[in-house]
Amino acid sequence: MIALGPLLIEGPLGMAPLAGFTDSPFRRLVRRFGAALTFTELISAEGIARGNRKTYDLMRFHKDERPLGIQIFGKDAARMAEAAARVEDLGPDLIDINVGCCAPKVCHSGSGAALLKDLDLLGAIASAVVKRVKLPVSAKIRLGWDDTSRNHLETLRVLEDSGVSFITVHGRTRAQRYTGSADWDAITEVRERARIPVIGNGDIHSHDQALQRLGESGCAAVMVGRGAIGNPWVFGTHVPSMRERAAVIREHIDLMVEDFGPYGLVLMRKHLVRYVHGVRNASRFRDAFVHQHTYEEIIALVDSLAELPESHDEEGGATGIPHIEPEDME
Ligand SMILES: Cc1cc2nc3c(=O)[nH]c(=O)nc-3n(C[C@H](O)[C@H](O)[C@H](O)COP(=O)(O)O)c2cc1C
Repeated sequence: MIALGPLLIEGPLGMAPLAGFTDSPFRRLVRRFGAALTFTELISAEGIARGNRKTYDLMRFHKDERPLGIQIFGKDAARMAEAAARVEDLGPDLIDINVGCCAPKVCHSGSGAALLKDLDLLGAIASAVVKRVKLPVSAKIRLGWDDTSRNHLETLRVLEDSGVSFITVHGRTRAQRYTGSADWDAITEVRERARIPVIGNGDIHSHDQALQRLGESGCAAVMVGRGAIGNPWVFGTHVPSMRERAAVIREHIDLMVEDFGPYGLVLMRKHLVRYVHGVRNASRFRDAFVHQHTYEEIIALVDSLAELPESHDEEGGATGIPHIEPEDME
């Protein structure tokens, strides 16, 4: 067991929040494959306060996803505290504050990574949330707004002083978005100075690499984001056969349809194209997945995957970091 303040998790690898991907079915899958902690995508405190139905749909979860953090974003301390109280009533294990989102519609309103430019406000928000709920509270940050204003150590101090139980550090600035590479030296620096546990995050795409980052940084845990899309096996050491992959993809499809109805098949497409990354004739499968619409057609394609040879093609295997950018952060 690893202690993240009062929150105990079974292992050192967690699933990072990915808007549009880390929904309830996916969280169940990765949890089963060894992710010791899961998160919802970022959820608007305004939407929670208004009781917006779509916002509440994003917070539905299943007990098999626990320990689960519900991540909230906003720019007003009282509103964030109110949202946290409502979230607490839903019974997650943790409330996480988003201090890293770089999407313009979040940042331009002063939430997400914009809070890195106003640490007084960040402190007020984090303190208000911590005071309002009994659940552990964490925050997920970037290294700063841009390269000339990196302030990860000041941000750490402010969050510690406000009483959060732990922080997650994505080793990039807001200006970098998802370009360049995550700065693990800076993550290590945060860990060295911290009085609370630190989770490191950025560019991990294999189990070995996760353990290496964990060891080198000394972090309490590390989180995998894009590297788990189409590869939920990243949390363990077992390399699945094509037959096992196909069985898990089928299960994923069924969970999506169960949770979202027929629209689950549409949502599943972006996962399907990642699941075939690295398999022989991947582009043929990708095209086919986008054009097949019925459940039966998609299942037939997935079943044909099970018959493929185990070899990987020139795309570099199933573990390359996918080029996924957040486009729809709704
Ligand atoms: C499509 C996408 C959606 C994301 N959504 C969120 C989010 O809702 N909340 C958050 O804190 N970070 C979000 N992130 C950032 C990831 O959690 C993570 O910090 C980042 O992708 C770096 O980790 P990775 O290299 O393992 O992917 C998102 C990233 C991507 C690519």
